[in-house]
Amino acid sequence: MKDFNGKVVVVTGGATGIGKAMADRFGAEGAKVVIAARREERLQEAVADLTAKGIEARYKTCDVAKLDDFKALADFAWAEFGQVDVLVNNAGIAGIPEMLLDSSPESYQRVFDVNVFGQLNGIWAFGNRMIAQGTPVMILNVVSETGLFVAGPLMGGYAVSKYAGRAISEVLRLEMPKHVQVGAIYPGGVQSELGGSKEMTQIGMPADEFIDIIWPQIENGEFYIVSHPWAKDYAAEDAEVLSKAFDRYAPHFDGDRKYDSKLLAKQMVG
Ligand SMILES: NC(=O)c1ccc[n+]([C@@H]2O[C@H](COP(=O)([O-])OP(=O)(O)OC[C@H]3O[C@@H](n4cnc5c(N)ncnc54)[C@H](O)[C@@H]3O)[C@@H](O)[C@H]2O)c1
Repeated sequence: MKDFNGKVVVVTGGATGIGKAMADRFGAEGAKVVIAARREERLQEAVADLTAKGIEARYKTCDVAKLDDFKALADFAWAEFGQVDVLVNNAGIAGIPEMLLDSSPESYQRVFDVNVFGQLNGIWAFGNRMIAQGTPVMILNVVSETGLFVAGPLMGGYAVSKYAGRAISEVLRLEMPKHVQVGAIYPGGVQSELGGSKEMTQIGMPADEFIDIIWPQIENGEFYIVSHPWAKDYAAEDAEVLSKAFDRYAPHFDGDRKYDSKLLAKQMVG
């Protein structure tokens, strides 16, 4: 999808950080934008800013962890604009920096509610309606490079949720009809309000620079949407270690096709 003029784009977590920068960019390309998050005053500020830039923008309060909120967001978007062409599943939280052994069901539950169910709810609330629209549409999931490799300790809940985000995108790509483009975005550090810490607003890539890198990938309908070069090295390192483990302990052998899961899945599903 290269021409966003007149298209309708819904961005969760669209009042700040990456979501706001995406709303800005889609809007600058002529799209109408609906942003959604929990804090109404931040949404109002963001819509005022978008409007001042000449962008047609609306907001709706929504807790992405709640499916009913997401369904109300979908109703709102279709009522306001009559169509939805792009859903950006962006809202997310950093979770608590803690060792896995020190963590609790509650801390994992919260980060899963927002980062995992927040994206699933988006797909459940918008997916079938977008398919039924019959026009080319796009679902973009903002994952993280932490869905490709784990940079260090203390990232437990966040990392586990972002690996799930990657899986959601992979599953969706396999299952969606051709007119639904799926993209998974894998940012590294980007200046934002993630974690509610002032630090994140200072470190990492400026959000505009990040959007400039991912924009052509969105236009070209890429599935893996990437931005931070070192992620390639670390993902490749992991892939190489894995590959060596296979070479050493589970190399190919004559007749191993009967254990090929992709082949088996094709045979079972057709
Ligand atoms: N900034 C980074 O370095 C970075 C890196 C990789 C991935 N990401 C991902 O990018 C996405 C956007 O984060 P950001 O960095 O712009 O941070 P941010 O905090 O500026 O933006 C996240 C937005 O999501 C909203 N949000 C949080 N919980 C919500 C809920 N339950 N319902 C609705 N809205 C909710 C917040 O209000 C906020 O507006 C997240 O999914 C994050 O995991 C960020």
